[in-house]
Order: sequence, then structure tokens, then C-alpha cells
Amino acid sequence: VSLKALNTFGLEAKARYFCVLRKLGGVRSIMQWAAQHPDLPVMFLGGGSNLLLVDDFPGLVVHVRLLQREVLGQDQDYVYVRGAAGENWHDFVRWTIEQGFAGLENLSLIPGTVGAAPMQNIGAYGVEAKDCIYEVQALDWRTGEIREFSQAECQFGYRDSYFKSVEPGRWLIVTVVFRLPRQPQWKMDYAGVREQLEGKTLNARVISDAIMNIRRSKLPDPVEIGNAGSFFKNPVVSPLQWANLQAQYPAIPGWTHGEGVKLSAGWLIDQCGWKGQRDGDAGTYDKHALVLVNHGNATGQQVWAFAQKIMASVQEKFGVGLEAEPNIIF
Ligand code: EPU
Repeated sequence: VSLKALNTFGLEAKARYFCVLRKLGGVRSIMQWAAQHPDLPVMFLGGGSNLLLVDDFPGLVVHVRLLQREVLGQDQDYVYVRGAAGENWHDFVRWTIEQGFAGLENLSLIPGTVGAAPMQNIGAYGVEAKDCIYEVQALDWRTGEIREFSQAECQFGYRDSYFKSVEPGRWLIVTVVFRLPRQPQWKMDYAGVREQLEGKTLNARVISDAIMNIRRSKLPDPVEIGNAGSFFKNPVVSPLQWANLQAQYPAIPGWTHGEGVKLSAGWLIDQCGWKGQRDGDAGTYDKHALVLVNHGNATGQQVWAFAQKIMASVQEKFGVGLEAEPNIIF
């Protein structure tokens, strides 16, 4: 089965076996089939927006299409909403806003699904999914049991979670419960957000619209040009390395992050001259060096080779190693 329409890079890659999970009840038969084919790898696929398919996938792809949106209730300070893993993320965000709720507006227009949000703790414009996630329900692929993970148990980090790094492949996220504050606090510190909102009466919808404008102005729409958002994480360096880099490159941007300093991968890549460059159909977006793009007919191998060239050149110029953000599937 071709996965071209199911990955936002638009890469031509095939799954040896493929199935769609629309109802949780259907998982039993898929697990039974997988148990009869123990040598085949299994991959859960949501919106395919955080994925680089370097090659054909030699195992079973389970396309998660579980759908459901529900307001669970409220207490004095919060309202609780639940979304099933297969819901489109942006549509879910806009739905919460239509219900009169706030909290997810800064995460508008992020490609992907509700189930992928906790997996890599999606984030943008000063907000991360973890800020509003209350509980994640996931299915243990080893036993078929369903387990609830509290926010703390998800071990969220920068574009990271328990599901992504501690036990990758074990948990199929089924639903996510969000806890949204009834007294919203707008996050507008990120450069450009406040300017967009000048003179406007603030509410979640207005902020969501502003975020959508900002994203459209600098990030490519995967429908028009294949991409997976930021291709690298922003690297964190030690205070010593930061001091050395600053001495050599006074304009280098950096933000305190835990014990270290988070750099801007986009800036580093831009400084190496990669912005808008391409090798055949694999390249970087001309308005944002951190976004790798498929101009049409690039293969996964070509995109990955291009990414490695970028990593090598940033390593050579700045002595900083970049780590890919999407899952690289070989
Ligand atoms: N910059 C350049 N050249 C470029 C691009 C960026 O010099 O071509 C520099 C600028 O100095 C700019 C700085 O990089 O001020 C930061 O760029 P930007 O504001 O676009 O943010 P980012 O750090 O590149 C991160 C997230 C994005 C998120 C934005 C906004 C990561 C890996 N990426 O990007 O998330 O939307 O901040 O909050 O953390 C994603 O994860 O897929 C993603 C798009």
C-alpha cells in the first residue's frame, strides 16, 4: 500500500501490510494478526506529519482513525475535554474554541492528530501540549491492556515524552484529556504575536487567527509543498559552549533552558548558507531554514541525505550536533 498520501512530506513509500483502526474494538484482531507475524515491525500512523519514510516499511502500518470529541465536565477552575487519537489536531483546537474554551489557541494549525500531540509534546509560540494535557489513555501493544497516564507519568520534555523515548512503539495512544483554564491567560510573548494582536479585543479565536497568520507567513503548507515542520530540534548546549559561541558569533540567538542554553537550529542552518538550497527535489524552505521540504519528487533517501549534509555542516562550523525532530523510519 502506498503511504504517499499519508505522510506530509509526500514521499512515495510503501507499507508491506496496512490496516485502518476506526474503532478500538478492532484492535484485538489486528493484535492477533501481529502476534502471528512476530517478526514484522509495527508502526502506528496518525497524520503522518512527524515522519520521514526513508524506505518502504517492511511491516504492518496501523493507521489510527479513532474519532471522538467530548466535553467531559468542569470544576471551579477548569473544563475537561477529550479527543480521540485520530482527530485532526487543528480541527480539534478550533472545536474547543467554538465551545468557548481557551488554552490551545497558540497551538493552532500544527499539522497532525490529537494522538500525536502527547507523543512528541507539540509546541509553538510559548505553549506546549503538556501545559493542557491532563491524562492520556493508551493501549499496551504487548498485552492489549488500556492504561491511563497522568500528566506527570507522561514525562514530557521538549518535543519528548515517555511514549516517544522511554518505550517507543509500545503504546498506542487512544484518547487525550485536556484541562483548559476557565480564566484564560493569553501567551503573547513570542516575537510577532503581540504585534498581530495590536488593538484587538483578546479572545481565543482572535489569538488562534493571529497564530494561523504567523504560521502561514513562514511555514509551508504541506498540501502545497511536502514537509514535516521543523526538521531538527533546537539544540541545547552547556553554558561554557554558549560563552564560546557568543564570543565567536555575537549575534547568535539563545535562550536559557534548564541548566543549559537552547540555540536556534534555524539560525545555525541559515548561517551555514542552507536557506532555500536544494539538491534535486530535497531542500530547505526559502522562508525558514529549519524546515526541510520535498519540492515534488524527492525520495526519502534524498531528504535524509540532505539532512545529513546539513548536520555535518552545522557540526563543522559551530561544533553543535543537531538531532532530527521527526521519527526517521528506515
Ligand atoms: N532563524 C533564522 N533563519 C531561519 C529561521 C529562523 O535565522 O531561516 C532564527 C531567527 O533568529 C528566529 C529564530 O531562528 O528568530 C527562531 O525561529 P522561529 O521563531 O521560526 O522558531 P524555531 O525555533 O525555528 C520553534 C519550533 C516550531 C514552532 C516555533 C514557534 C522547534 C524545533 N521548532 O521553531 O515548531 O512553531 O518555534 O514557537 O522547537 C515544529 O516543531 O515542527 C515546529 C514548527
